[in-house]
Amino acid sequence: MDARQQHYLKAMGITAWVRRELPDEEAPVQESLATVAAPQLSEADPAPRPRPAVRSKETTPAPEPNIPAADEPAPLPQLDITHMDWEALARGVSECQQCDLHKTRMNAVLGVGNARAQWMFIGEAPGVDEDRQGEPFVGRAGQLLNEMLKAVGISRESVYIANILKCRPPNNRDPQPHEVSACHAYLRRQIELVQPKLIIALGRVAAQNLLHSEQSMGNLRGEVHHYEETGTPLIATYHPSYLLRSPGEKRKSWQDLKLALSVCNPTEAGA
Ligand code: URA
Repeated sequence: MDARQQHYLKAMGITAWVRRELPDEEAPVQESLATVAAPQLSEADPAPRPRPAVRSKETTPAPEPNIPAADEPAPLPQLDITHMDWEALARGVSECQQCDLHKTRMNAVLGVGNARAQWMFIGEAPGVDEDRQGEPFVGRAGQLLNEMLKAVGISRESVYIANILKCRPPNNRDPQPHEVSACHAYLRRQIELVQPKLIIALGRVAAQNLLHSEQSMGNLRGEVHHYEETGTPLIATYHPSYLLRSPGEKRKSWQDLKLALSVCNPTEAGA
């Protein structure tokens, strides 16, 4: 291993001399979506988008309400998301009521970063910090994601980051299929607008939904797939929340990042 690689591994918190037998990952990739705070939009973004107004936590009641099961609302008018620009997307998502998650969200979270990024990261859903701040991956998992990006020599601002769901599921439960369907057109439109050269699915939920697969992360990672709807190369890797719980797996995520670089190296191509 050369000095550059050792530097990268250190930046990701990987101790170079540790050697251990790693279990094949079948444990849930997504944990309770963590805590804390962090940074902002991209200077590299050629088309900065208006962000939906972020509601402050002072205005929001703390307890997690239970969503009433009954009283199905009248069907909402279908939005034509397929032609939306960034501004319309931001407004559409912030006003979206296509599923019940709008009842418990503080902020809808569209995405953040370079609107012409070469790498697009897609996670699962906003957690408590993301819901508060209106930006994806700003908690502890986001901080680790930032470290992983540094490890490959690119900044958070040079990539685009989004989630399968735009609203936080109560208690960070897994997204339900009807919620994923309700949100899908937004993500698809984001992918069409960004036109990334590579999609990196963070965690089992993102990977399974993007690939329409029920396979484990252990099976999905380590190879180049394609996002069916645009043909974009797609790599699945562990969710940063999982890596926080299972730091031994960081070595595999480093392998995944090297695979990503072999598909598209944004440092060379100018992300
Ligand atoms: N986990 C996710 O999948 N997405 C976020 O935005 C934050 C945590």
